[in-house]
Amino acid sequence: MPPPAATCPPAPRPLNLRVWPSLDGWRVTLKALIVEARAVPGTCVIGLQWGDEAKGKLVDLLTLEHDIVVRYQGGANAGHTVVVGDQKYKLSLIPSGILTSHVQCVVTGGVVLHPPSILAEIDGLSARGLSVGKNLMLSDRAHVIFPWHIAEDRALNDSTADGESLGTTQRGIGPCYRDKVGRSLALRLGDLYRDTFRSRVAHIVQAKNRAIAAMDSSDTFEPLNPEEIYAEYSRCAERLRPHVADTTAYLLNAAEQGKRLLFEGAQGSLLDVDHGTFPFVTSSNSSGVGVPSGSGVPGKHINRTIGVIKAYSTRVGGGPFPTEQDNPLGQLLRDRGNEYGTVTRRPRRCGWFDAVAVRYTARLSGVDELAIMLLDVLSTLDEVQICTAYEIDGRRVTDFPSHVDDLRRAVPVFESMPGWPEEINQMRQLGDLPQAARDYLDRLSELIGRPVSYVSVGPERQQTIFAQQKLKPVGAV
Ligand code: IMP
Repeated sequence: MPPPAATCPPAPRPLNLRVWPSLDGWRVTLKALIVEARAVPGTCVIGLQWGDEAKGKLVDLLTLEHDIVVRYQGGANAGHTVVVGDQKYKLSLIPSGILTSHVQCVVTGGVVLHPPSILAEIDGLSARGLSVGKNLMLSDRAHVIFPWHIAEDRALNDSTADGESLGTTQRGIGPCYRDKVGRSLALRLGDLYRDTFRSRVAHIVQAKNRAIAAMDSSDTFEPLNPEEIYAEYSRCAERLRPHVADTTAYLLNAAEQGKRLLFEGAQGSLLDVDHGTFPFVTSSNSSGVGVPSGSGVPGKHINRTIGVIKAYSTRVGGGPFPTEQDNPLGQLLRDRGNEYGTVTRRPRRCGWFDAVAVRYTARLSGVDELAIMLLDVLSTLDEVQICTAYEIDGRRVTDFPSHVDDLRRAVPVFESMPGWPEEINQMRQLGDLPQAARDYLDRLSELIGRPVSYVSVGPERQQTIFAQQKLKPVGAV
């Protein structure tokens, strides 16, 4: 017997007279077609650079027209700042949908969760009068970050085999994902509610104490106490219990029932572990390719992908950054854009817009349209530059290099455009912007090959221009 339609609607099937010749067959087919027509597929918001593209602001705006906001990868390494009226919210793991009362927030199994951090975030929001209860769902499949992951992140001294620093956020993200793939020493949120939790912690701590002591070159590592960890995480688990659920089943049902899903990417596509600037990446699929694997919702439920970019470039941590301006201009961008990490407060490296990199990530993430953020930061400059190609060993290249050594040797080929002297924070229409700013937006759109739908000229909700640009993408860098 199939389950009732309300919990598990039949999958839509193509009309096929040979398969469905009977009246019953037609009924099933008709019902499937109705389910398909009712289903409003989802929207994805993906960062196309190295993170910190101000995705949180866009997600906050789009949340108003969605039912469910989904965070599907990464961990407390990410940070969003969202400004609502005179209130500023700094969110890390909880989707920014939590600021909108009708919205269900879902953190899926592709995320790595540090229970003390998520509880601190919940407490911080509750203290400011926001309700965080059933509206926050956490996947029982999400892998849990333990103190040994954080100790490993530190003991590895943050460096690659060549001794170069990755500049991780030191939140235990990489070691937790490594254990997930390694399987034998991993614990998921659902495991914290099983009788075996205590003995598994004891077993893992024994192995980890040996491993971390061996890696720790500073010899300062204090062995971890399994009973203390068990007690602390059991307390956290009790407090988190009302939020824990099978989010995959929930989201599949919601998608099939036509609920409007909004997928919120963390970090940016160039930090994707498979497609980014490896090894200077994070440990999850932070580009659009990560949505189905991280959430359990197949791509057919997604019909709109918005690529979010800054009007310039930034990067935190190590790794090549061809358009970096390690000079007074970079400092000016840092100051005007307040380019300091939300989570770590580290100063971000700043540079000109890189159209080679973003055209690559827009294609990789299947982007339909663009949101260009922080355009106001470029005001007052005499000229603005865009990197349209790289020179690598005397060859002109417009495909983003797959190997970090090639990217390291890439010399950007810049195109210069006039800047605009006036501040634009108060402008609300595309037509209000100075001609030079409009030309800059058009050129970015042309180089990336995607139309611009949103332009942000300040951190607040109302400092947004709904561009609905009619420009036909040309698509040639
Ligand atoms: P991890 O994710 O902490 O392992 O750090 C790996 C790399 O990703 C480092 O270069 C971090 O600076 C970078 N990173 C991680 N999360 C973010 C983010 O939210 N914004 C920008 N960079 C990030």
